[in-house]
Amino acid sequence: MRVTMIGAGYVGLVSGACFADFGHDVTCVDKDPAKIEALKAGQIPIFEPGLAELVANNVRTGRLFFDTDLTEAVRSADAVFIAVGTPSRRGDGHADLSYVHQAAREIAAAIDGYTVIVTKSTVPVGTGDAVEAIIREVRPDADFAVVSNPEFLREGAAISDFKRPDRIVVGTEDERAAEVMRALYRPLYLNQSPLIVTNRRTAELIKYAANAFLATKITFINEIADLCEKVGANVQEVARGIGLDNRIGGKFLHAGPGYGGSCFPKDTMALVKIAQDADSPVRIVETVSAVNEVRKRAMGRKVIAACGGNVSGKTIAVLGLTFKPNTDDMREAPSIAVIRTLQDAGAAIRAYDPEGIDQARLVLDDVTYTKDAYSAIDGADALVIVTEWDAFRALDLDRVKALLRQPVMVDLRNIYPPNDLLRRGFTYISIGRPQ
Ligand code: UGA
Repeated sequence: MRVTMIGAGYVGLVSGACFADFGHDVTCVDKDPAKIEALKAGQIPIFEPGLAELVANNVRTGRLFFDTDLTEAVRSADAVFIAVGTPSRRGDGHADLSYVHQAAREIAAAIDGYTVIVTKSTVPVGTGDAVEAIIREVRPDADFAVVSNPEFLREGAAISDFKRPDRIVVGTEDERAAEVMRALYRPLYLNQSPLIVTNRRTAELIKYAANAFLATKITFINEIADLCEKVGANVQEVARGIGLDNRIGGKFLHAGPGYGGSCFPKDTMALVKIAQDADSPVRIVETVSAVNEVRKRAMGRKVIAACGGNVSGKTIAVLGLTFKPNTDDMREAPSIAVIRTLQDAGAAIRAYDPEGIDQARLVLDDVTYTKDAYSAIDGADALVIVTEWDAFRALDLDRVKALLRQPVMVDLRNIYPPNDLLRRGFTYISIGRPQ
């Protein structure tokens, strides 16, 4: 089949490369000429494990192309995916759909023959209707269907999430469009991944409901972690004890500094707005969003408390800046709030991250970035682990202790066993575990 991806950002690039790998002919279109030139030259603008190789292989075998002009790519396509950004609109938290609407207008002008237009971007309920209306207005004669096909990729694991999904969701009432989608995803559902066909609005809501539920699970365990600290319980054992109940499930129950990234914060807020507009508020999600925001700064105060209540004039080493490991993404990363809280209290920050430093420089001022973990720790008054990169899981603790001025470690991801650290003479503070 011939597939066109509008938007060569994270979702478009990963999905396009994976579809090409299934054997489809894929063109990724992006308005940014520099990005397209770089992609043609084999340079990938984001860090995602395995993506560079996947793109290079499929470019080499002649199944994956890049272009700045969508006309020809759309004209010959069986399916056109809209995978452009939907940032939070400044001021009101609604998703900004201007890029989606613009893409719909441009696609409308170019389609030729029956074409399935697929919204892959995370979009509010009813966006499929709006895209359909725009295309119909521009091209009353066009033969097309608009389908919702939300993505459930996690950054850092996007390729395996695409190729081994828990499910594929297709929202359409057009049987012909459903057939095109089945053909596109055939390699996956032959592999036993369920493909659910629902109506379009249901598919759009599934995406928001899934992310909001996962954000709720994380926020729930984070609050239970705080309670554990007060009553002398261990949150990891609570999570295991409840997670073994199949009705609850053990995933997304790792307590930490609060969720970040480009999806959960934005999507929970957008769902709150959608629900308010529909006069059917989602109070649990409203609370989750508010609790998570407050938590990030509270983590900074936790570090200050671990340093005896005062960090003025002290140097704090921060390991891990990105919102999670295996990405260079700093969007809504808890490290930002933690570092700003420490800076506001007068601390100097030395930080290291395996991939995130270039992005961190754009959002954080007055931070000294180091070339490795030990250089950040050298001479610091305390060490904080904010993101659980594998490289931080097996630090040489004797060396860490020798380099620190005070043996204080705050582990916001619970990657070390408390007893070991305490035995080695550290002041060790983690999340929701007895000291
Ligand atoms: C999330 C969803 O997991 C994907 O299914 C979805 O497709 C994607 O959003 C999206 O809407 O595009 P992602 O934001 O890449 O993916 O990252 P996650 O692995 O879900 O982590 C999000 C945040 O939650 C991170 O800050 C992470 O540290 C935190 N988290 C996650 C926890 O604090 N505890 C957990 O148990 C799990």
